[in-house]
Amino acid sequence: MKARSVLAASAAVTCLALPALAEPQAEVLHWWTSGGEAKSVAVLQEEFAERGGTWTDMPVAGGGGDAAMTALRARVLSGNAPTAVQLKGPAIQEWYEEGVLADISEVAEAQGWADVLPDQLAAHMKCDGSWCAAPVNVHRINWIWGNKEILDANGIEMPTTWEEFNAAAEKLQAAGITPLAHGGQAWQDATVFETVVLGLGGAEFFQSALVDLDPEALGSDTMKAVFDEMRTLRGYVDDNFSGRDWNLATAMVMNGEAAFQIMGDWAKGEFLAAGKVPGEDFTCAPTPGEGFLYNVDSFAMFEVDGEDKQAGQALLAELIVGPSFQETFNLNKGSIPVRSDVSLEAFDMCAHISAEDMAADSENGSLLPSYAHGMALRGEPAGAITDVVTAHFNSEMSSDEAVEMLVNAVAAAQ
Ligand code: BGC
Repeated sequence: MKARSVLAASAAVTCLALPALAEPQAEVLHWWTSGGEAKSVAVLQEEFAERGGTWTDMPVAGGGGDAAMTALRARVLSGNAPTAVQLKGPAIQEWYEEGVLADISEVAEAQGWADVLPDQLAAHMKCDGSWCAAPVNVHRINWIWGNKEILDANGIEMPTTWEEFNAAAEKLQAAGITPLAHGGQAWQDATVFETVVLGLGGAEFFQSALVDLDPEALGSDTMKAVFDEMRTLRGYVDDNFSGRDWNLATAMVMNGEAAFQIMGDWAKGEFLAAGKVPGEDFTCAPTPGEGFLYNVDSFAMFEVDGEDKQAGQALLAELIVGPSFQETFNLNKGSIPVRSDVSLEAFDMCAHISAEDMAADSENGSLLPSYAHGMALRGEPAGAITDVVTAHFNSEMSSDEAVEMLVNAVAAAQ
């Protein structure tokens, strides 16, 4: 852990308040550019405009946000930080330690966030006890999406074990159907990998390996079995998977070009934006195994000068956690509200499964932060793991070699 600088300490005490006569302005950096994502962020833009705000959009395409984070660094280094940034997990604290985040505690306290946000998730929004990010939603990572017609036509149920998944995939392949729609980008490989870690290893193993970075777990036979399954899954993707965007993989399932996709529930936002109905056109089921991998999108406000911008930050923070935005946004986005007091009546069956599983997994200690989506680890160890996962997926590397490389890479990154 880096020590906090003196600059950071002074940044932490600058509080955001809504100046009386200011006209709220915000330049918002985010990576919500697919069909479902764009529809979702438009909800925030509308609410912001209704309250007299002027929104300057700074979308940086690239699923998972890697490109957006590179753009953010460039902007901050040039001394011109955007007012609000889609930022999550330990990256929030990393930026806080650089002394560049604004404190949004005043808004959080006025709006009673502590009363409506689950403690485990609220903790990600805190920096040294103050509020430094506003949470948007809860995305679940460990989902399988299926094309209903293909599955029905081939007599296939949603798999509940990885063996069943493999058996279904073999059957589909024999029938000439691509079993798994996948986009060969490192973050997508990591997304699939973490669902297999959870599925084969269980919650405690996931925690030891991908949160606590325990070398024994990372080098274990269980981890070898995970890489074996990754090799098996590699055999179920089509020849053109390399570099494909996640939403194009979702479209393959939608259009009947592939049977399954393993992806967080922003994929559902994509199905919904295309007018598809869960249970009729597509199905959702947790990936095999117990547990819930969460990914909470949030926005952090960067230190900026000017009353209008600061008013924009305060207004954005208020709207983001507000109940109306939480409902409408999440209906579009595929996620569920992070507030515990928003009714789920208007939400679909997948959202209900998500909310029920989240409550149950929170009770029994299997509500876990996603490593692949930057909720569990700081940038360096997370990047080191992903490099190994993607190198293995895209080569003939053995599981023994992958596990050895994983242990070494993680040790070097700490
Ligand atoms: C974000 C989602 C986003 C997805 C694909 C994830 O890391 O949390 O909001 O839809 O990446 O871009």
